[in-house]
Amino acid sequence: MDTEIIRQLKQTVTDYASMLGCRPRACIVTFGCQMNARDSEKLRGVLSASGFELTDSEDCDFLIYNTCTVRENANTRVYGRLGKVKSYKKKNPLMMVALCGCMMQEKSVTDEIGSKYGFVDLVFGTFNLDRFPYLLEDLLRARLEEQPCFTRVEIIDSTENDADRLPSARNYPFKAGVNIMYGCNNFCSYCIVPYVRGRERSREPSEILEEIRYLREDGVREIMLLGQNVNSYGKTLNRPKSFAWLLDRIAGEFSSELLIRFMTSHPKDLSDDLIRVMADHNNICEHIHLPVQAGSDRILQAMNRHYTREDYLALIDKIRSAMPDIAITTDIMVGFPSETETDIDQTIDLIGRSGFDNAFTFLYSRRTGTPAAAMEDQVDGETASRWFDKVLEAVHCSARERNRRFAGRIMPVLVEQENRHNDGWISGRISHNLLVHFKGSPKLIGKIIPVKITESKGFYLMGETVSDED
Ligand code: 5AD
Ligand code: SF4
Repeated sequence: MDTEIIRQLKQTVTDYASMLGCRPRACIVTFGCQMNARDSEKLRGVLSASGFELTDSEDCDFLIYNTCTVRENANTRVYGRLGKVKSYKKKNPLMMVALCGCMMQEKSVTDEIGSKYGFVDLVFGTFNLDRFPYLLEDLLRARLEEQPCFTRVEIIDSTENDADRLPSARNYPFKAGVNIMYGCNNFCSYCIVPYVRGRERSREPSEILEEIRYLREDGVREIMLLGQNVNSYGKTLNRPKSFAWLLDRIAGEFSSELLIRFMTSHPKDLSDDLIRVMADHNNICEHIHLPVQAGSDRILQAMNRHYTREDYLALIDKIRSAMPDIAITTDIMVGFPSETETDIDQTIDLIGRSGFDNAFTFLYSRRTGTPAAAMEDQVDGETASRWFDKVLEAVHCSARERNRRFAGRIMPVLVEQENRHNDGWISGRISHNLLVHFKGSPKLIGKIIPVKITESKGFYLMGETVSDED
């Protein structure tokens, strides 16, 4: 990162602090997926490097909403919360408000912000995250010059940015997300991601490895390799590489030092090599998230997913033959245009046959500009909700059944946090990505310790420590 701009920002933030009479407090609210969470760490990195105090309170001096637009309700939530923000700004006219992320890449959204939410100071998108320090500098200058209604909208379509060089402040000191690629080329017919995150671009392996080495030195115990479709990693590099190759390199170099997760895998691109690499390294977590979306061939085809239910089931068999204990989770969508009760029954049948450890279930949301939005036979909301409940019940049943296998086992757990609901309890995650709650000292946070699983509660586990460290 060009430290010149950070140096400049520090000075401007000091001037802004004098104007306010106190150190400015900034809050970032993140909507959506792991990619956004990682982008927010970069925003937070810039803010803390330039002198802001970070807070969870939206009633602050600089509020940023990092938005998501994958489903309509994500947009609705942002508009809903902006109402409240207006009242904060009335109270504190020097407050600055910024909106960024996927939702801002939609013209209809920036038009609406412009016409109805004039108090928003800054809007930027997913392709110019690297410009954040410069945009912030301009915004602060405007405040210092007492320009009351500074509004700047900077949205670009070019993918030539370099946000990887921004400083970053991690949400957890002991685990970190690492972007290995950006964008998506799949154009599933319901999905807005390729339009708001652009075409697929992979980072150079040397850059990725360098970042992971730094994280390791900085105390990180677990990394999550991030991409919309990690299985197509490396295709766009000058010297093409595969995801299996990258994972093998990382797992080999950091064996026994780092746990490795990755997200998300598209079933059509999951190779035999990848399965072999996962089975070969015991520092690769025993979990794969493999979105299936639907269990009916007709719907899968209309979704443009490029596999059949039998392909998917065969893939699950292959993965489980190599790694019998692996946790497989998925995403399922309900109410895609023209879907019928028979299609839903096929989805439910597939859930039963796959034995998912867990699944995120979503009601189909019509996203303007995607091919599915123009399809006939949109399913009415009431019918989709009824189907959703049926699918959810099948998912619960599968998760309860699968997660029972852990009871009685002693498993390594990476301790993540104090339990918010029970004093004296802490929570951590097993390799299979399931949360375990147990009594213990917060001093254990960030450590990997053995925990005896006493009970499975379906979507989470209860346990007790077996070491005398607590
Ligand atoms: N409606 C509902 N769910 C969607 N997803 C993506 N687009 C939509 C949409 N238009 C879900 C898919 C994907 C997950 C991240 O979000 O299941 O895997
Ligand atoms: Fe969207 Fe499909 Fe790409 Fe996933 S693979 S981001 S669902 S287009």
